[in-house]
Amino acid sequence: MPEDHVTKAPGGCPFSPQARRFDPFGPEYQADPADALRFSREGEPVYFSEVLNHWVVSRYDDIKAVFRDNITFSPANALEKITPPTDEALAVLKQYDFNLQRTLVNEDEPVHTERRRALLGAFAPEALAAHGTRVRALVRERVDAIIDKGRADLVQALSWEVPFLVALNFLGVPEDDHEKLRAFSVAHTLNTWGRPTPEEQIEIAHGVGRFWQYSGAVLERMKAEPAGQGWMHDMIRANRENPEVVTDNYLHSMMMAIIVAAHETTALAGGNMMRRLLEDRTAWEAVCARPELIPNAVEECLRHSGSVVAWRRVATVDAEIGGVVIPRGGKILMVTASANHDPRHFDNPDALDIWRENTAEHLTFGYGSHQCMGKNLGRMELRIMLEELTRRLPHMELVAQEFTFLPNTSFRGPERVLVRWDPARNPERRAPALREAVREFPVGPPDARALAREVVVTEARLEADGVQGLVLEDADGAALPGWSPGAHVDLILPSGESRRYSLCGAPGEETRYRLAILREEGGRGGSIWLHENACAGTRLKLRGPRNHFRLDEDAPAHLLVAGGIGITPVLAMADRLRALGRAYALHYCGRSRARMAFLPRLARDHGAALSLYPGDEGARLDLAQLFAQAPAGAQICACGPERLLDAMEDAAATRPDVVLSIEHFTPKPALDPSREHAFALELADSGITLSVLADRTILQVLREAGIDVSSDCEEGLCGSCEMPLLEGEPDHRDRVLSRAERKGGRRIITCCSRAKGGKLVLGA
Ligand code: FES
Repeated sequence: MPEDHVTKAPGGCPFSPQARRFDPFGPEYQADPADALRFSREGEPVYFSEVLNHWVVSRYDDIKAVFRDNITFSPANALEKITPPTDEALAVLKQYDFNLQRTLVNEDEPVHTERRRALLGAFAPEALAAHGTRVRALVRERVDAIIDKGRADLVQALSWEVPFLVALNFLGVPEDDHEKLRAFSVAHTLNTWGRPTPEEQIEIAHGVGRFWQYSGAVLERMKAEPAGQGWMHDMIRANRENPEVVTDNYLHSMMMAIIVAAHETTALAGGNMMRRLLEDRTAWEAVCARPELIPNAVEECLRHSGSVVAWRRVATVDAEIGGVVIPRGGKILMVTASANHDPRHFDNPDALDIWRENTAEHLTFGYGSHQCMGKNLGRMELRIMLEELTRRLPHMELVAQEFTFLPNTSFRGPERVLVRWDPARNPERRAPALREAVREFPVGPPDARALAREVVVTEARLEADGVQGLVLEDADGAALPGWSPGAHVDLILPSGESRRYSLCGAPGEETRYRLAILREEGGRGGSIWLHENACAGTRLKLRGPRNHFRLDEDAPAHLLVAGGIGITPVLAMADRLRALGRAYALHYCGRSRARMAFLPRLARDHGAALSLYPGDEGARLDLAQLFAQAPAGAQICACGPERLLDAMEDAAATRPDVVLSIEHFTPKPALDPSREHAFALELADSGITLSVLADRTILQVLREAGIDVSSDCEEGLCGSCEMPLLEGEPDHRDRVLSRAERKGGRRIITCCSRAKGGKLVLGA
């Protein structure tokens, strides 16, 4: 590896001493991996750790890009021992004929997709739903066993054993000695992702060797049952029918790896979830009072304190990540725990926010073609555990304790979670029927769109002609989630319809949201209802905030353009740039001064940067000049009427070296099945072909097939449902992709866009 690749950041600066000395076995990372990488997320997102001999990647977008490209960034080293084994340990492993090779986790294309395709059926939502009864019975049995005791270690009593038994059942593996398998799992984790001393390596090698032989023996027993049920039996049959694809060694390697993978990540996630929710009493009580929050709360725990905190890849060619060149053969540690705390993707990321709208976009399950196949089974188990505990033991509390973790780079969960409660206060002593009053949830990711919090209007006043300003606070006085400039919320009207409005609060206001609503006489009626009915004391429902219109604080220059009510997100951006002490220019167009909101505040706070263009005074913004004079690399953020945004897109064509970020609020017309045609949708990574009928969207069809796709607006406005397009001619109907992006033909917005021809191929 050339020296300059090892020690230099882009621009030739050396990596900082903190980066070069980064050691995931040090106390900071072991205590809190996301916090240990804060310095990296903030200023050094890709660097070389000399201690670990790996390139470390910490930001969300960079890690997602690496996951997405498994040709350039091979998973071949995902199960490699991160601490090189000693000769003595290797000799011990040899005694056991240990020969773990490729599994689903560390194999390359094209064989990976072929095998994954052969083994996917059992993970379809309808196939998984059948496991719900078994999971419920196991959880209930475990809670019955502790409910009158008043104390428990939730890891021992529940979150380790339930996933373990569910995994064995799913795989069709006989339920053997639990404790022996638990010891094997620990040995496998330390062997692969730990830093054992030479003496410990010997002991661990014996444990791993015994595990290898144990899994081989179980496999032989299972082969003798040709009609056996479960995923491993499917694999044994695939081995019989297609031994070239599902080889003998693959079968044995998978047997060992899957026993660990199928339960350990869920077991650790259960411990993390219970710890985090019980530490945050407000969140715990909210879940007890509103069980519909459970799917989102589980997902937020997976984001905030995931059980899988890092994955590895190796560069197959010289490649770039975040502007840093990784040489061919360079090993990469992607710290997904850090990505899940990246403020560029998650607002206020260190807070546990069980209402968080985009929480399911976390990378704890990985991303792309190697994404965890068992994610929906894990979600189901965690939801049922949380549902049983919050319903039957809402008064449970944590005992003061120090949490300990198995020292390794990649898997994380407390070894014990000690809790106590007063059995005399158990709700089912007064109401025995409560034991049976379960609440079930559909298989799959949470639907954040189904969640809404109640807010109350505390102030309403005219900000300009036809512009109503509203201040909203939580109806129960709770803090509202943090937000970043460009964010919006959805207000849900009494009719059940929702409307999006950008946040435009003053800096530092943490318990209230400010909105400005333009009365649209020709609109759908939402703004008129709010103008005529929203006053101090009015209660409303609200979803969000979400942000698809982000300020790039690292851009070398910023130009902000607002037209009419588009000033709301732009004002928040200007406030942020001013607070950061950055240079910016703010151009604000409107029909007349009387109709332009916030003029006094703009003059006060942004006077030096502000240019006003009231149309009735003949003032016009010269877009050609604006783009011509924009410094290279500048971010131009614009929000306003469609004709202004279209004109900006035209002008941007002349300056490919600036970044135009725009926010639309008007969707294109809804799907009209009588004018559409059906087409085929091939998913290259999953190896399946679906049919998109004239009355379905691509997004709906993907979800019905069990593919996780985020969404928010489902109107082509936000971009959260975007997917890679590999082949086919798209009929773009969104308001997100720029003209250049459409021309590039590599992306599609799945909630509204379709095919011009008979087929599209997506990377999914
Ligand atoms: Fe918003 Fe598709 S969900 S663009």
